[in-house]
Amino acid sequence: MNVLIIGSGGREHAVANALRKSPLLDRLFAAPGNDGLAAVAQSVALEVGDHGAVADFCRSNAIGLVVVGPEAPLVGGIVDDLERAGVACFGPTRAAARLEGSKAFTKVFCDEFNIPTAAWRGFSDAGAALAYVRAVGAPIVIKADGLAAGKGVTVAASLAEAEAAVISLFAGGHAEIVVEEFMIGEELSFFALCDGVNAIALPEAQDHKRVGDGDTGPNTGGMGAYSPAPILTDAMSARIMREIVAPTLAGMSRRGTPYRGVLFAGLMITRDGPRLIEFNVRFGDPEAEVILPRLEDDLLDLMVNAAAGRLPATPLRVKAETALCVVMAARGYPAAPRLGTLIAGVDGAAAPPGVTVHFAGVRRDGEGFVANGGRVLAVTALGRDVAEARARAYAAVASIDWPGGFYRRDIGWRAIKSTA
Ligand code: AMP
Ligand code: GLY
Repeated sequence: MNVLIIGSGGREHAVANALRKSPLLDRLFAAPGNDGLAAVAQSVALEVGDHGAVADFCRSNAIGLVVVGPEAPLVGGIVDDLERAGVACFGPTRAAARLEGSKAFTKVFCDEFNIPTAAWRGFSDAGAALAYVRAVGAPIVIKADGLAAGKGVTVAASLAEAEAAVISLFAGGHAEIVVEEFMIGEELSFFALCDGVNAIALPEAQDHKRVGDGDTGPNTGGMGAYSPAPILTDAMSARIMREIVAPTLAGMSRRGTPYRGVLFAGLMITRDGPRLIEFNVRFGDPEAEVILPRLEDDLLDLMVNAAAGRLPATPLRVKAETALCVVMAARGYPAAPRLGTLIAGVDGAAAPPGVTVHFAGVRRDGEGFVANGGRVLAVTALGRDVAEARARAYAAVASIDWPGGFYRRDIGWRAIKSTA
């Protein structure tokens, strides 16, 4: 089978590596891909927003499955348009992608189907939102509705911060905001493969969203991750499947918009159990770079079956090892990453067994690579436990010569502390 991956980041590189292990795979393409990813998936210069052009490419290259990496094309309806053109896709339709595309949609959905989440109110008017925020007080969480690339959320510790967030979202042109109860607990990224009716749990992960050591500084797309997460016991996993994933699949089917693809539940594990922070309708990045290297089953076979509505009921086979990923970003990320700086030593870093360097924002320049985005490399290592995976990942990072980049030095601190 020929496969086309939509996307250009480290997540898509991890998906490509997993698909390449499949005996079912013939040719692998990525649109737009990146120059580092080109070693495993041939880059195709397609305007991904032009769904007609993507469908034409799929027909002329006998693509048997399109795997959509990021959320924007899903929310934009690429799956609807490709399926209408007769091309099979792994990923949700536009209507099902509202689980990520609209926070207000998801909150209403959770209320309707009794999915545990933070108490909330939606507002389209700054005055009413401010009155509510003043009545509830801090801490409180303010969110833009709609996709905001991780920038639309303020966890306000003080009332002044909450008021400022409300005012700035409406002033910035957001028509709808959601104000939420602040939940206390430990965060967990939970993933399930879904075929519209049934779901199977994938390995879980925990990520580090803040740019700086000690979880300080602004939020980013993610500076590192590890899998497994010590907080997730078998009992907790079963509870999340029962209380969050199963009712979501049932509810989406009931509404006539069945969910197929990866469902990524961002959870808070509170004293009262798992509660939903948000859904994403795709793999996480950098979570994919730690969960997919642990997967022993054939990802292509699973994706084909999920798209066709016939996932097996058996649990997935997963390596017992821990995977840990350190993201290397261009200096200045997330506000203003400096592009064009030279990166050396990647091949040597990726040489030890169990180490993978995933390429994100890179461009080939002569024999080497230069930075071409904010998050540039995602360096993953496997180990017997989190301490060994971390030591191997940081040894690989240290052998990469890139003065224009930086990384966090404490990825995995929570897992190390809890297993110590
Ligand atoms: P989101 O973009 O919705 O994932 O939110 C970004 C981050 O804000 C999350 O990873 C949490 O750390 C935090 N957050 C979001 N909503 C809540 C909430 N209701 N209570 C506590 N923390 C939250
Ligand atoms: N790392 C979080 C995300 O992909 O949304």
